[in-house]
Amino acid sequence: MFSTNNIPDLFGKRAIVTGGNAGIGYIVTLELMKKGCIVYVFTRSQKRFNEAFKDLPSAWKHLVHFQFCDLSDLDSVQAAALAFKSRESQLHILVNNAGIMAVEYGLSKQGLEIQQATNAVGPAVLSLSLLDVLVKTARSDPQHRVRIVHTSSSAHERYGEAYPKQSWESIQAVNRDQGSTWKRYGQSKVANIFTADYLAELTSRENIVNLSLNPGNVRTGLYSNLDPKLGLMGKILSKFLVRFLIDPQKGALSTLYAATSPDFDASSDPSHKLNGAYLETGAKIGKKASWAMDGQARQLFVSFVQTFANKTMGIDLKQAAARALA
Ligand SMILES: NC(=O)c1ccc[n+]([C@@H]2O[C@H](COP(=O)([O-])OP(=O)(O)OC[C@H]3O[C@@H](n4cnc5c(N)ncnc54)[C@H](OP(=O)(O)O)[C@@H]3O)[C@@H](O)[C@H]2O)c1
Repeated sequence: MFSTNNIPDLFGKRAIVTGGNAGIGYIVTLELMKKGCIVYVFTRSQKRFNEAFKDLPSAWKHLVHFQFCDLSDLDSVQAAALAFKSRESQLHILVNNAGIMAVEYGLSKQGLEIQQATNAVGPAVLSLSLLDVLVKTARSDPQHRVRIVHTSSSAHERYGEAYPKQSWESIQAVNRDQGSTWKRYGQSKVANIFTADYLAELTSRENIVNLSLNPGNVRTGLYSNLDPKLGLMGKILSKFLVRFLIDPQKGALSTLYAATSPDFDASSDPSHKLNGAYLETGAKIGKKASWAMDGQARQLFVSFVQTFANKTMGIDLKQAAARALA
């Protein structure tokens, strides 16, 4: 069974961890740093970043960097990807971890329902915007597979069932209230699997592995901003039940396994059969819900992201991907 003792030496490697200042992402960041990896934490608040890392020994300070990135705002996502590429020429590990859960209905700066913007569209655009540097890195190191990790949730199963295929057909469809914040969250977490599987296919000839995962039910700040419409149940969950969830150290295991384990390198998986795998709590290979494997729905999501990024930002993600893979 995988534990943090199994994380290999990562000296000289570069990683991005979105939301690396809190919860699961914070543990992931620390564990990567312990192995010598230089980690860029993509998050919204320099103040919260400084607070999170203030007690680091001074010899470690050079291993972690703040990069402003608001995943709900494609302007910011684009700027953060460019800023990273202006500082670094290699990216070995991209951990799409940041997220929000079951929050009140709202719209992002570009007019998308906030959970779809933050959890689904922002990370997909970030991954595609970094594809050139990921591919370049993969081609320079045949021994280690570049990792792209996509943090989904058991909510993709629990709340994704009612997810109709047409959810990503138009902005009106994406922005439906759905009568429940959990359904909106579930939709965004199904989309994380779509992104992982789309990228797994797109980069299948490269030395890159895409993995989606459920970290487990973890005691973090994710439960602190629940939609007031959840009423008493929401309060019981955020104030009481959360105490019984697993701690972030355990909750980070699947992510760390995906991000670092040699099990996904060409030496252990020469036929690349784990590319696109879904991991369960505790670093185990798990199963995706059938609707998360619906190729038609996945294509609708991918087309939505491409069109939306093009309309709102003038970014041509298709062309960027073609250039990265040329
Ligand atoms: N905890 C669980 O039980 C559980 C279960 C299944 C899946 N997950 C998934 O695990 C991931 C991590 O969750 P967690 O439990 O560690 O939550 P957390 O403790 O609340 O951490 C979430 C992180 O995401 C960042 N974030 C939120 N909105 C952002 C935005 N717009 N742009 C950039 N960063 C943003 C937060 O940073 P700032 O707010 O400081 O910017 C924070 O660092 C999420 O994707 C979540 O859906 C968690």
